[in-house]
Amino acid sequence: MTNDTAATNHTAVGPAGLPAWDRAPVRLSIEDVYVDYRPRGRGVVRAVAGVDLNVAAGEVVGLVGESGCGKSSLARVAAGLSAPSSGTVRFDGAPVAPLGWQRRPTAQTRLQMIFQDPGGSLNSRRTVGAQLLDGVGDELPAAAREQRLAELLDRVGMPAEASTRFPHEFSGGQRQRLAIARALAAEPELIIADEPVTALDASAQAQVVSLLLSLVRELNMGLLFISHDLALVHEIADRTAVMYLGKIIETAPTRQLMAAPVHPYTRALVGAIPQISAAPRLPAVLRGEVPDPSRAPSGCRFRPRCPHAAEVCLTEPPLRHTLHTLVACHRAEEIAAATEEEM
Ligand SMILES: Nc1ncnc2c1ncn2[C@@H]1O[C@H](COP(=O)(O)OP(=O)(O)OP(=O)(O)O)[C@@H](O)[C@H]1O
Ligand SMILES: [Mg+2]
Repeated sequence: MTNDTAATNHTAVGPAGLPAWDRAPVRLSIEDVYVDYRPRGRGVVRAVAGVDLNVAAGEVVGLVGESGCGKSSLARVAAGLSAPSSGTVRFDGAPVAPLGWQRRPTAQTRLQMIFQDPGGSLNSRRTVGAQLLDGVGDELPAAAREQRLAELLDRVGMPAEASTRFPHEFSGGQRQRLAIARALAAEPELIIADEPVTALDASAQAQVVSLLLSLVRELNMGLLFISHDLALVHEIADRTAVMYLGKIIETAPTRQLMAAPVHPYTRALVGAIPQISAAPRLPAVLRGEVPDPSRAPSGCRFRPRCPHAAEVCLTEPPLRHTLHTLVACHRAEEIAAATEEEM
């Protein structure tokens, strides 16, 4: 596919008045992706069960959901680290093929991934400088490469001397910033960050998050930010997708999703954020675990934990546009009307 067709086919044209990213070119396009695991002695584990999701240039998309709902499985496929069982991932219009991280075509190196553990992207036996230079490529003359190395370290707030040291000589937060520098070396257009700050203390979290956000704004990068921390996603994401047991059950601009969540699961998650909710406690609806994906409930997957479950929920709810959101709930309108009455 030529760049021209990619640009025309993958441009999200949003209604007037929406933020600029809604009309920006789509960088990452995840189309009807399934991820099945076949562990020995167990049934098929369907970790991702038909997900569609786009990320546009300059857009921060938050992907949230409880542990085990399939976020990392989706992230690995989106980054081309593993193949989907079915479905397609496109980056700038071209299919992402899992060829091995080092053997990817140059265009695909513009899609980078950052992991919870920076060890996922840094080799402990090589100096920081050598690893950053891998991403810079060897076309540049030596002096220009050295200059680029210094720029990269400076960009993530690390001193130039860091280049001669090894990853284990740094703190977790510093290592994560080095991992970001490693990703930046490839001049990415899109970063997939899977719980990038979960392992860090509060001040390192704030540094890494603000670094990622400044890169999105300055370089017009897309960012898929995966986290189970809804309060953090509330602060940084333009749009948020909520995942439950392998499916996206609601997507909306973040501000709206947090102010007026529609799906009972989203309501429960948002209700559990102390900063937003008037009643900061884990709502009863979220009692219990995410079911085992190898034994997913039929119909609506949230049905066994949902306080609003009814007979209609025995059939699977499609994702549909209603109440200014994209939601997979048969009873969305009834629940919204009942909540309004209560208020
Ligand atoms: N290699 C594997 N083999 C079998 N099952 C797997 C494998 N990897 C993940 N799973 C299962 O797939 C489901 C989704 O896992 P995944 O790691 O994608 O969830 P997650 O949303 O990233 O969770 P967390 O928030 O804990 O990181 C889980 O039930 C998990 O046990
Ligand atoms: Mg995960």
